[in-house]
Amino acid sequence: MDLLLTIIVGYLLGSISFSYIFTKKIKKIDIRQHGSGNAGATNTLRVLGVGPAVAVLLLDALKGIVAVLLGYFFGGEGLAPALGGLAAIVGHNWPVFLRFRGGKGVATTIGVLATLVFWPALAAGIIAIVSIVVTRFVSLGSLLFLLGTMVLSIVFREYFDYPVEYVYLLIAVTALSFWRHRANIIRLIKGKESKIGQKVKQ
Ligand code: G3P
Repeated sequence: MDLLLTIIVGYLLGSISFSYIFTKKIKKIDIRQHGSGNAGATNTLRVLGVGPAVAVLLLDALKGIVAVLLGYFFGGEGLAPALGGLAAIVGHNWPVFLRFRGGKGVATTIGVLATLVFWPALAAGIIAIVSIVVTRFVSLGSLLFLLGTMVLSIVFREYFDYPVEYVYLLIAVTALSFWRHRANIIRLIKGKESKIGQKVKQ
């Protein structure tokens, strides 16, 4: 019962789309009709600018953090926080409040992984930030973050004593993120991905 509650609350929490709320409030537009069409922090940067984008990034990450903490609270280490975090990411990507058209889940995933596997997420986060600064491709940095956190968590699993459920979660969220970024990956390969500071019409 507690597990089900964690999943339901995690999903509902994840379904709160801050990029949608901010763009509706500030510009009275639907972010999903502008820029890349993605309801996330990167597209908020394009549509609203730096301040709102940082706020969206932090609030979306917070959803993931709270969902994992709820899992710890209701079920302790292992399955419950992993499923709570996954539910928040699923909610962000397919929000019940927005007819299931949400974002790619990166910020919420950052919150989930920073809470579950802090050190691997921090190391991968540094790699991702360097990549974004050098290439100006947020999507590439996002994918490097996911891949890096997964690989480092698996390599150092025994050292950090991570439960096997975290490994399954990492594989699932990394696969999910690559799938959600499939259009970005194709654009990256074709050299057509938009860089930070560049206007996009897709
Ligand atoms: O946060 C998602 C990011 O990795 C890519 O976003 O809007 O460029 O598709 P976007």
